[in-house]
Amino acid sequence: MLLQRLEAAYVARTPKSKQAHDRAQRVTPSGVHSNFRNFDPHPTFIDRAEGSRIWDVDGNEYIDFTMGFGCLMAGHAHPEVVKTIQDAATRGTIYAIPHERSALLAEEILKRYPFMDQVRFTNSGSETTMHAIRLARGYTGRETFIKVDGGYHGAHDPVMVWATEDGERDMLSQGVSEKALAALVTVPFNDLEAMEAAFKANPDAISAVIVEPVLLNVGVIPPEEGYLHQLLDLCHRHGALLIFDEVKTGAKLAYGGACEFYDVQPDIVCLAKAIGSGVPLGAFVSSKEIMGKIERDEVFHTGTYNSNPICMEVGLTTLKNVLTKDVYEKPFDLNSQLVDGYNALIKQHDLPAMTVGIGPNGNVYFLKDTQDVPLEDRAKHFASNHGIFDLIDHDVAKAYLLAMLEHGIIPVPFSVTCSEQWTISIQHTQADIDRHLEAFADVAVQLKEMVAEKVNV
Ligand SMILES: Cc1ncc(COP(=O)(O)O)c(C=O)c1O
Repeated sequence: MLLQRLEAAYVARTPKSKQAHDRAQRVTPSGVHSNFRNFDPHPTFIDRAEGSRIWDVDGNEYIDFTMGFGCLMAGHAHPEVVKTIQDAATRGTIYAIPHERSALLAEEILKRYPFMDQVRFTNSGSETTMHAIRLARGYTGRETFIKVDGGYHGAHDPVMVWATEDGERDMLSQGVSEKALAALVTVPFNDLEAMEAAFKANPDAISAVIVEPVLLNVGVIPPEEGYLHQLLDLCHRHGALLIFDEVKTGAKLAYGGACEFYDVQPDIVCLAKAIGSGVPLGAFVSSKEIMGKIERDEVFHTGTYNSNPICMEVGLTTLKNVLTKDVYEKPFDLNSQLVDGYNALIKQHDLPAMTVGIGPNGNVYFLKDTQDVPLEDRAKHFASNHGIFDLIDHDVAKAYLLAMLEHGIIPVPFSVTCSEQWTISIQHTQADIDRHLEAFADVAVQLKEMVAEKVNV
């Protein structure tokens, strides 16, 4: 009942979004340009955004906690970023001939990763992980690599795979090359025994392990204490490299990303999202020794748009002037308040839900059944793409999202799998957090009734 009422209210509130979607659907599959963006009954179409606010084409105003799938640690349209884009555009949008600004940005990135020597730029997270894996293979002369399950590393062939409960593989897409996948092994997160076994089963064959240091594509799942250090040790004992996919943690979890936060020094770091404040900017960072493969043209890294001047300038402004060392404390504090506020309301209403937060990110999981998996074990179950899908009550998750929208809050990206998270940017305020919690206080009551109705059916 609640879900139907909320859907009807959503449709009534967003007629222009529907029109825009109808039009887009005629010329574009599903009317969206990334499959993740589709939403039933229709996606919200955005007009503009500024600070912590976003407005849809129907004129509805929301406090946005999605921040462009986590890109916008700087918040929407940060004045310095906007000015940088305006100025940079007048000097040309692309040269595809070297210019000085790329070295300046590389130097800025290396300040955050002082144990690394060199940087190459790309245009997205997917491109970055693709090149990082290729570099690791080229450097070690080994083809097989390990993907830690629960991670998402983009849309290129060998990473488009999940492990199922029984250890089988499930491809995220048709058209992915089975042959490319032959060189892939998947291992659960936070499981060093399984990792050791995978190395032993593939002696002298593993080029690298790629891992999200905090799983941020199954909500928020932090590593267990010591896991990342021991993983690094294990990789090196077996002659493999460790690749940190910091696309969602870089310049967010700390000034120096997850490497600083956990004090770990992997062999290659992949960056994108926050370093570019929303422009298409990615980078991989490594030692001179490993990057030597690219320098000698033994591993190929190219791209027409790489290090284009606008992205370089935006990256520079973002890292040098906007996401400075001193700005992280405030959003982290606001995030703790939000997580604590959620937990208190969940407890007060005895909702089958749990919240996990870290740094500027948090997520609420709406559970199908609270009895099945003890609370302390849940993180393990969520830490796989299948686990999370099976454990989440998708109806309640959708009702939560729609009910929060009704209150003018976009709490997490439009998804009913609870596989994303909120981001508190440096432009969010105390008042934004207070409004978010006031909204959830009301929504929690509605969800409680919905859950009770479900149990009684
Ligand atoms: C950890 C991680 N790696 C890689 C990617 C792929 O990045 P992009 O969407 O820019 O290709 C994402 C996207 O969300 C991500 O979260």
